[in-house]
Amino acid sequence: MLTYESEKRIFTIHTKNTSYQMMADSRGVLLHLYYGRRISGAADYLLRLYDRGFSGNPYDAKEDRSYSLDVLPQEFPCLGTGDHRRPACILELENGASSCDLRYDSHEIRKGKYALPQLPAVYAGEEEAETLSITLKDAWGSGIEVTLLYGVIPEIDIITRSVQVTNRGSSGAALTRLLSANLDFLTGSFDVITFFGKHGMERVFQREAVSHGVKMIGSGRGMSSHQYNPLMILAEREATEESGCCYAMEFVYSGGFLAEAEQDPFEQTRMQMGLASERFHWPLAPGESFTAPEVILSCSTSGLAKLSQNLHSCLKQHVIRGKWRDEIRPFLLNSWEGCYFDFNGERILELAKGASELGLDMIVMDDGWFGSRRDDNAGLGDWTVNEEKLGCTLPELVAGIRDLGLAFGIWVEPEMVNEDSDFYRAHPDYALKVPGRNPVMARNQLVLDFSREEVVDAVYTQLAALLKSCPITYVKWDYNRCIEDVYSMGAADQGTVLHKYILGLYSLLERINREFPELLIEGCSGGGGRFDAGMLYYTPQIWCSDNTDAVDRLRIQHGTSFGYPVSAVGAHISVCPNHQCGRVTPLRTRGIVAMAGTYGLELDPGTLTEEEKEEIRRQLAVRRRFAALIEDGSYLRLSDPVRDPIAAWLMVSEDRSEALLSTVNLETHFNDAQRYVRLQGLDPGALYAVKDVFEESAAVLCPAAALMGSGFPIAREMGEYGAHMFYLKRQ
Ligand code: GLA
Repeated sequence: MLTYESEKRIFTIHTKNTSYQMMADSRGVLLHLYYGRRISGAADYLLRLYDRGFSGNPYDAKEDRSYSLDVLPQEFPCLGTGDHRRPACILELENGASSCDLRYDSHEIRKGKYALPQLPAVYAGEEEAETLSITLKDAWGSGIEVTLLYGVIPEIDIITRSVQVTNRGSSGAALTRLLSANLDFLTGSFDVITFFGKHGMERVFQREAVSHGVKMIGSGRGMSSHQYNPLMILAEREATEESGCCYAMEFVYSGGFLAEAEQDPFEQTRMQMGLASERFHWPLAPGESFTAPEVILSCSTSGLAKLSQNLHSCLKQHVIRGKWRDEIRPFLLNSWEGCYFDFNGERILELAKGASELGLDMIVMDDGWFGSRRDDNAGLGDWTVNEEKLGCTLPELVAGIRDLGLAFGIWVEPEMVNEDSDFYRAHPDYALKVPGRNPVMARNQLVLDFSREEVVDAVYTQLAALLKSCPITYVKWDYNRCIEDVYSMGAADQGTVLHKYILGLYSLLERINREFPELLIEGCSGGGGRFDAGMLYYTPQIWCSDNTDAVDRLRIQHGTSFGYPVSAVGAHISVCPNHQCGRVTPLRTRGIVAMAGTYGLELDPGTLTEEEKEEIRRQLAVRRRFAALIEDGSYLRLSDPVRDPIAAWLMVSEDRSEALLSTVNLETHFNDAQRYVRLQGLDPGALYAVKDVFEESAAVLCPAAALMGSGFPIAREMGEYGAHMFYLKRQ
């Protein structure tokens, strides 16, 4: 619910459990008052003004030295107004000065959720959501107008934010920094939680105290990146999974970003998120507008688990779209780790036979099927089938696969090109390169200039022809390097290229989704290098990591779970010793870990023993049986797999009548203590029957309060990495 109290000009956004409040003060400055547990009434009593010394005053407050934007909590701070904390906006005027003094002009409250031009954004029904837009104007006649957009989905405690900047003046201006969300806190001491990583180890959880100065994460790589995920959480120091106040910002964007948490010398905290400002320069000629990508904002007053659930619900119901949003996704076998580049049509058919005997739904032919691709040095850009290598046409191969009762999927990397390709030879200027300089190479490939429409069109033509050539129901959309050489032949200002690139990518994905509404696209970028809410708008699932080792995956999936739902996490079983780190883990363990994601295979079934095949059939039956609980239930983290000797997580149905507990033993010792894992989220007064889903043993009756207070005993076993999955049924 959105309210406006006209006397004090106070805006309040109420969600089911939280309130967010701002005030256009007597000078028209939009101050942030409050965000937290739901309130009624105004929180403007929190403001305390006094002269802080060396904190400037706006000219209209020159008699009142207690009024300074250097310390007041602001909704949208701009450089040049006396605020020396990190700005949300830097606007360069035609004369080169950076100044923008925004004051309240008007606002609008309406039903439904706003959409954003050319950008992915949270969507909702007219009755499910509301929109507040507040328009601010530069006080000095530049004609710069800023509209702050707030979308509210009360039921899941979600507020979205975006910003539109329009030049209604007669002289030019340029944006050099524009963030989508800013959150100022007058009180509180916080920890900041971020997710760092690298190729093969993405989204590792990190929690540290916010201290004086700025904690900054971001990506200047033209992609959201393996290194830092566009998700930042601010949690009260004492907040745990089950208690305390915490706040999340999650960017609905797949390119470079910035997220900052700053504590100022007056113990106030500022949190921000938006576009990377490195290499960003966006001219705004008279009449032009710029829209910043959206940030999803959420507050939980009962710990991190609830915060994650809010984000999961938002992504599952209001970001992911199309047919696959509500359908159980196909369980597939991907050829990559089974064959790498070494296959032909016959080998793919053999894999398909194996997959069909195991009861899978689909086979995916990964990298190596097109152009002159023999290894990763050639062929990208030529999306035509290499019939010589396959020994047949694609329609013939797909027909053979469909005869086995399987669907067919294929790998593409549409944004890339190898110098050794017909596409590059025909269009060398289509790749991003700085004129007169050699480009930085990565995997011996270049990035196509998606900021240019004709480049996107040329790629679309090839992809559409491929997808129309035979029944292809799934595409793995890869992206295997970052952007280093930022220069486009088509750009008047090179500071626009990185953002226009992402707009080009989104336009292509949108076109493919519209043209092929049945198609399931799985995002990928060397695993999870572009694992973000922007991609999820077009690709309902994303390959989580190139690291398929079950133990490493526990860490990766644990971090990922803070911001992203299980249904978005591409996860497969691979062989042992694992190809990435050589670790040996039981097949049961690999299966249980992959079940906390999409579950599939990344191996050659021909190498499996009969016993292993039987085990995979059992796992698949379990994954299918519990698909709804796994994908729609609340995901609860029960341990920290980096620190604790046990990894454990729980999926609980909405009505709490059933749950699925997964545990993996990470340490083993002689004569060890009995370990217990404490559950969460159950119906506290109820009894639950607990049963290992893979064993014939009888169910054990356990009181929920005891399961959540004392815990559930984990089997003591010989050897490391034993895993179990228990089904809990309320009695
Ligand atoms: C990336 C992907 C892998 C695989 C290879 C193919 O690294 O993440 O899963 O598809 O490309 O080259």
